[in-house]
Amino acid sequence: MRNIFLHLHPAKVNGTALRFNRTFGLGGMAALLVVIQIITGILLRFYYVPSPAEAYNSILFLKNEVLFGQLTRNIHHWSGVFLLLIAFLHLLRVFFTGAYRNKRKINWLFGLILLVLIVFSNFTGYLLPWDQLAYWAITVGTSILSYIPLFGDGLRVLITGGKEVNGGTLQTFYTFHTAVLPFLLLILVIYHFWRVRKAGGVLIFDEDENAEKVPVIPNLVYREFIVALVLVATVLVFATFFNAPLHEKANPAFSMNPTKAPWYFAGIQELLMHFHPFFAAFIIPLGVMVFLAWIPFLDYDGKEMGNWFISEKGRRSVKSTAMFAAGITIAGILFNQYLINFEILMPKMPALISNGIIPLVILMLFMAAYYWLYIKHLSLTKAELVQVIFVFIVVAFVVLSLVGIFFRGKDMELTMPWEI
Ligand code: HEM
Ligand code: HEM
Repeated sequence: MRNIFLHLHPAKVNGTALRFNRTFGLGGMAALLVVIQIITGILLRFYYVPSPAEAYNSILFLKNEVLFGQLTRNIHHWSGVFLLLIAFLHLLRVFFTGAYRNKRKINWLFGLILLVLIVFSNFTGYLLPWDQLAYWAITVGTSILSYIPLFGDGLRVLITGGKEVNGGTLQTFYTFHTAVLPFLLLILVIYHFWRVRKAGGVLIFDEDENAEKVPVIPNLVYREFIVALVLVATVLVFATFFNAPLHEKANPAFSMNPTKAPWYFAGIQELLMHFHPFFAAFIIPLGVMVFLAWIPFLDYDGKEMGNWFISEKGRRSVKSTAMFAAGITIAGILFNQYLINFEILMPKMPALISNGIIPLVILMLFMAAYYWLYIKHLSLTKAELVQVIFVFIVVAFVVLSLVGIFFRGKDMELTMPWEI
């Protein structure tokens, strides 16, 4: 055991660098959740049958007849949700402490790949119960792909194995879910860990630089153990009190209302209700991905890492941008829903302009005004400016997702959560 820990960690680390608010233990939690997913996934595989005729019944059997079957399924469900949330929070912690630069550039990129793998692990798993929820969520989720110009439709057919979600889709998803993706995840997590070691361990904060070194056993390992216990306990509490959803068996002839994409794509689905698909499902997500991958390679002026939010000015700009982004996203949704829909207002104009370029230009005008009226006067450095753009994207995405998940009811109308 000692050796395993000493392979993962250096023998000694800075004493104050062990403080919880340096990493919040999020990377370690993500790793533990991957292990939990693999173990519970293998257990589920003993009973699960990947065919449209049998999949649903095999879940019912698992639920009703197998000892701890329901609990295992619930653990797999909740730790899949937590894994995505925690990997996202880990990304935020890495970004806001500036730990994505210099020696850590490549590991940031591999982190992004890990995040994509986790999204697809969740997405492929979603279809497996083959109930109405799964069938229609994957139908909507895969249909987003067809909005990609030129090869989008081909990609969708390749993934679903036909015009619509069918037995072939289930087989493909099952293979990806239980073999290809876990294999890739495992390899990349190991590589990710190795890169952390190669960079000399996690980023040391400025104020910790001269701290005394302490042995990792017991100091760090003891803390990791507590974090792991709390995490496992939380997953178990959720798995005990909240069952993984299971609706009626999938019926391709009868769609759910509302038909929602899985929750992590709810943000894109919400965006699709306000912008032309070319922008909502292609240009904007692509732009965000390119921006995230590009961040580490920008030429920054100074060190600007090893502090939360870079500086006092950085912190101030983060707070105000978060409020601005939340405000403008909510205002935009309400404005488009209840006041002016340019597509209806200008029926003769191509939708790409009325529902794409026009709202996008309006949004950009607001952003430019925010920049000129406030941000410009703070004289931010390049890293602080990148941070402002990052916060805008993250907050807008979170607000869009929350609206999509909790405030869209029948016919995708805006509805209060308790009325859905
Ligand atoms: C399965 C998913 C992931 C696992 C298991 C994982 C695990 C870890 C662990 C254990 C650490 C060191 C301690 C810590 O920061 O908690 C770490 C650091 C790091 N992770 Fe991840 N990570 C994952 C996803 C990501 C993602 C989504 C990103 C960002 C795009 C990312 C980027 C980084 C970077 C740049 C570091 C170095 C940070 C530093 O040196 O302070 N990781 N990761
Ligand atoms: C990061 C890794 C993984 C994630 C995020 C994940 C996520 C999911 C999700 C969200 C579901 C749908 C469950 C539900 O909510 O109804 C699911 C189902 C399933 N997963 Fe995974 N999974 C992972 C790894 C694995 C592995 C490694 C295996 C097997 C080797 C596996 C086997 C299964 C099986 C058999 C089901 C169908 C049973 C059910 O739906 O309850 N999973 N997974």
